[in-house]
Amino acid sequence: MTSSSSDSDFFAPMRFEAEVLDCEVEGSLPAALQGAFYRSCADRRFAPLYADDTPYNSDGAVDQFRFYDGHVDFLSRYVRTERFLAERKAHRALFGRYRNRSTSDPSVRHLSHNTANTTPIVHGGMLFSMKEESLPTRMDPSTLDTLGEWNFSGKITAKTFTAHPKLDPFTGELIAFSYEAKGDCSDDIAVYVIDKNAAVTNEIWFKVPVVSSMHDMAITDRHVILPTTGMVTSPERLQRGELHWAYDPTVPAHVAIVPRNGKAKDVRWFHGTPDQAMLVHTTNAWSEGNKVILEAPVAAENFHPYFPRVDGLPNDPARYVPTMRRWTFDLDSNSDGWQEEILFGGMKVTSFTRIDDRYLTRKNRYSFMMTSDPSLPVNREFADTLAVRVSNAWYRFDHLSGSIDKFSAGDSYGVSEPQFVPRSPAAPEGDGYLIGVVNDFRTLRSELVVVDAMNLAAGAVARVKLPFRLHMQVHGWWVPWSVLPFQAR
Ligand SMILES: [Fe+2]
Repeated sequence: MTSSSSDSDFFAPMRFEAEVLDCEVEGSLPAALQGAFYRSCADRRFAPLYADDTPYNSDGAVDQFRFYDGHVDFLSRYVRTERFLAERKAHRALFGRYRNRSTSDPSVRHLSHNTANTTPIVHGGMLFSMKEESLPTRMDPSTLDTLGEWNFSGKITAKTFTAHPKLDPFTGELIAFSYEAKGDCSDDIAVYVIDKNAAVTNEIWFKVPVVSSMHDMAITDRHVILPTTGMVTSPERLQRGELHWAYDPTVPAHVAIVPRNGKAKDVRWFHGTPDQAMLVHTTNAWSEGNKVILEAPVAAENFHPYFPRVDGLPNDPARYVPTMRRWTFDLDSNSDGWQEEILFGGMKVTSFTRIDDRYLTRKNRYSFMMTSDPSLPVNREFADTLAVRVSNAWYRFDHLSGSIDKFSAGDSYGVSEPQFVPRSPAAPEGDGYLIGVVNDFRTLRSELVVVDAMNLAAGAVARVKLPFRLHMQVHGWWVPWSVLPFQAR
């Protein structure tokens, strides 16, 4: 039987790095796959100092799959953060509860608490592994050697940097923001525009109505969209030695809309309701005239089971599952509210939503998601695991027809977030492959599967079989060889 403990099977500590040359491939890898797929993973190498800590507080590791001419090589490395190096020296955990420096061993409280465990991004020829409480950690995109925290040649003065900056596919600009930008509990937001050569070209500072977890953002060709959430913090919480976040069901959603090249005076705040305040990831956004359209999964309550409610009540499972929503902000109106439509009949989904990234900033027809689907074949032995702890399906949503195309890797497999790779730079939207790591709970081994993105139901066209299990992924990133500064082999 599979244990439901959070430190078993694929969640168990790895303490493992690997290189595999010419991975075993079942089927044949499409010629379109010419590039590198990076994954940022979370792996707790040592038992946590506090039993109620969250998996979000685990060490970062980055995996790299190099695809070339029908072959693939694999490499994985931990991110050598200050925290990793200190705990490596001590051979035990030294860092305390999630984002609460006062709970760490006194010997390390002055060090960066960055885990670099959330999102890998390549920009300006540099690879970063990102964690929102800290600056990006720069890594060598070829060897995965850690090069250290990166402040864009001194131009990023904020202490934090989102793990979900947006890369504009048309201009090559990286748009980013920082919250708690002057340190724990600060109500300061910074927005940065970074050009394709990694030079900062605009910086805007302003105040937020509520200090909350702001995990993701969205951009259109003209605007930056920044939603707050109901996950709040306070100096008192931190002084009491608690986890950084708790969910407050009375806190409404606030959304800042900022012109990309504007100033602080141009920031416009819109205000919603508490049951709109759990937006973790955005799907996409675009402009229609002077309207800004944002699509995202949004939950009505605490989406993060690892964090408590401020009122001490249990989380309500009926309300913390997201639905896909479209929010329309009319910049010509004096109203400080927005219009909401619930998409796909209010279907219960997850927050792991992606698109064909070439359509970022313009209206997309398709979106992709990892989610749980008990209607797909599920081996009874792993049913609880696949239904509750991990996802077992990839979906392609057709936002025009309303139809859904589904992929299952097998009845004992969990899936990681899917990554879309276009068949060619000029291929129509969605014409290409979904790739990503799937985990077989029967064998405790991992595979990377390649699926025709327009025909998920047909199953994998190729499976890259690894002779071991991989770390649990948070997010992934695809980069074609044309933008990487090294050779595939
Ligand atoms: Fe995320």
